[in-house]
Amino acid sequence: MSLNHEKQRVRTALLAPYFPSSASRSEDAAMEEAVGLCRAIDLDIVWRDQVRMVAPRPATLVGAGKIEEIANSAEAEELELLVVDAALTPTQQRNLERAVGLKVIDRTGLILEIFGERARTREGRLQVELAHLNYQRSRLVRSWTHLERQRGGAGFMGGPGESQIEIDRRLIDDRIVQLEKALEKVRRTRELHRKTRRDVPFPVVSLVGYTNAGKSTLFNRLSGANVFAKDLLFATLDPTMRAVELTDGRPVIMSDTVGFVADLPTQLVAAFRATLEEVLEADIILHVRDASDPEMDAQADDVYAILESMGIETEDNPRIVEVYNKVDLLDPESTERIRQHAAALTHPGVVISALAGEGLDDLAAEVGQRIARDRVEISDVVDPAEGEALAWLYRNGEIVSRTDEQDGIHVTFRLSEADAGRWTKRRALSVKD
Ligand code: GTP
Repeated sequence: MSLNHEKQRVRTALLAPYFPSSASRSEDAAMEEAVGLCRAIDLDIVWRDQVRMVAPRPATLVGAGKIEEIANSAEAEELELLVVDAALTPTQQRNLERAVGLKVIDRTGLILEIFGERARTREGRLQVELAHLNYQRSRLVRSWTHLERQRGGAGFMGGPGESQIEIDRRLIDDRIVQLEKALEKVRRTRELHRKTRRDVPFPVVSLVGYTNAGKSTLFNRLSGANVFAKDLLFATLDPTMRAVELTDGRPVIMSDTVGFVADLPTQLVAAFRATLEEVLEADIILHVRDASDPEMDAQADDVYAILESMGIETEDNPRIVEVYNKVDLLDPESTERIRQHAAALTHPGVVISALAGEGLDDLAAEVGQRIARDRVEISDVVDPAEGEALAWLYRNGEIVSRTDEQDGIHVTFRLSEADAGRWTKRRALSVKD
């Protein structure tokens, strides 16, 4: 998580309207999630409330009594921001801002802030900014200071009264055109980027999971002390990809991704997918789950829905390793139950505590097995003059070891069965030559 602790944390009121008729979560879970989202960008929640509602009020979403309560607290608690965990129309947002005397952001705005802070690929950042602009264009009441920011985070934290400032529509439109051009260029170079990645002779392992599941903790834990060769091939890769050696010595490229959230507003789906682009290329996907969260299964369903929408098969897919994290928070019986459940999966899951460093050897072993699955290990001696053959191996295989001897390059590598066939054929031909 990239929290800026030097910055004064924004004193925030969180209002979570709850519509039982359309809710996909329990009241508690919905509140928990909203709190989690606020924390994700380090907001300081000093006031919070949940209101059960039958129907939204067109002008202000919630009723006058609640608004007065917030306005009073705003003064008493020196609040700076009101987060409403629902979609607000531009009019509702404006009316609420006037009525409570605070900057107001809704759920879409909040998620945009999170994406803005966390989007990692260039395409992801552009998509987020584009979504942000389209969102703001419909409102024309907020500051657009984030345009000047590299990372687009915290765009709502302007000075007082800025909600009254009319944003120049033309400037936004110009910027949108500019962004769309940039996106087009990024898409064109993406294929090149993928190719570079394919040239890396190590498997790529991507972390996905619900927000707060512990992905970054696991990423840091796995890659922390043993980052290697980072100045070699990997300089061209995304900075959130790191080359690491798993505990069994196997080199892999690890990549972290932005967390999933429930009920993703539809206009944000493209931006979110763009932040997940590298998952499509991954050899192994670690699905990190918070096993201590009672909503774990519902969260997993959300994650799966997005992966499916990107064309990734989620049922019994050997590329996906289920990782049950935070078991240090569970009692022994629950841990055992999860352990049995994980072991009984068609492709077994792993039980870990990223924080305590438990179960990481099991995780490495499982990842190792999945990678080696369907792979054939071959040892061969290649003439140094056969540079092309060697390059082919680096491109298509996983190099296990290499020593340069007098009689040639002794190399052990793993290939898919199809590529192993190709290699054998190629060698037979070159021998005939
Ligand atoms: P997003 O960036 O929001 O997607 O979250 P994330 O999945 O990267 O989660 P992160 O690693 O930031 O962890 C979220 C919180 O869970 C942090 O407070 C971690 O310290 C905590 N956490 C992570 N792993 C464990 C664990 O194994 N046990 C316990 N008790 N806490 C953990």
